[in-house]
Amino acid sequence: MSTILDGKKISEMRLEILKEGIEDSGLYPRLATVIVGSDPASQMYVRMKHRACERVGIGSVGIELPADTTTQGVLDSVNRLNRDSDIDGILVQLPLPKGIDAERVIAEVSPEKDVDGFHPENLGLLFSGRPNFTPCTPTGIMTILAEYKIPVAGARAVVVGRSIDVGRPMSALLTNADATVTVCHSKTKNLAEELRRADILVSAIGRAHFITPDMVKPGAVVIDVGINQLNGRLTGDVDFDAVKDIASAITPVPGGVGPMTIATLMENTFRAAKVKSCDNVW
Ligand code: GUN
Repeated sequence: MSTILDGKKISEMRLEILKEGIEDSGLYPRLATVIVGSDPASQMYVRMKHRACERVGIGSVGIELPADTTTQGVLDSVNRLNRDSDIDGILVQLPLPKGIDAERVIAEVSPEKDVDGFHPENLGLLFSGRPNFTPCTPTGIMTILAEYKIPVAGARAVVVGRSIDVGRPMSALLTNADATVTVCHSKTKNLAEELRRADILVSAIGRAHFITPDMVKPGAVVIDVGINQLNGRLTGDVDFDAVKDIASAITPVPGGVGPMTIATLMENTFRAAKVKSCDNVW
């Protein structure tokens, strides 16, 4: 029987600690979210982020722009938030509607307020082994591994997916923690063979039940980033019921990685506020 890696429980614990830390600091961190259009999933994620803010004592401001906003319109909003000294963190909810240049928007966010960790400067720092703000989902996964004392140094880690928000930064965080990392993607040959080598397998491809027992080494730690709908139910990339008895530890969906993303966003926002307050002192 494998250990169920309870991201929900860890996130609750960390949010409580964070709440106390914020109270003790005397700071009032503030997060601004920017959402463009009315995608229901994005709206739900942003609502959850605002709720988490309220819970830990972070102020939040929501900017809602219509789906037909131009790239320049989004850049203007981001710039206003960059200049607003009351705002510590800025999050532009992704994906942006087609036609908006997401790369330009991400690059416009001030690196000091980039609590998503997607700005090229912050990604560059992460990949050069000197991380500043790091993307919330992979950072949350590193927290799960640390909380459960899962050894990373020397482990063979395989990441499935090479997105800028999960797969690539995940590979950098694991590399920085001395794992031996392989990144697999749609063009990878002999995928099952690659995955069967993994001591730590992270799947972030967004295909329900893609990871089957024949792809998992007995005793592997399996981290499921997928959020997919299957027959009206939320399900991960991993065929959980079939894989759970092969793995030594596995994250459920829901209740695994998802809550850690939000907890990490809150931690990053507090960090941004603390750094700013130190800058003000000096
Ligand atoms: N859309 C899905 N996940 C994320 C995330 O971590 N940050 C942002 N900004 N958008 C997302």
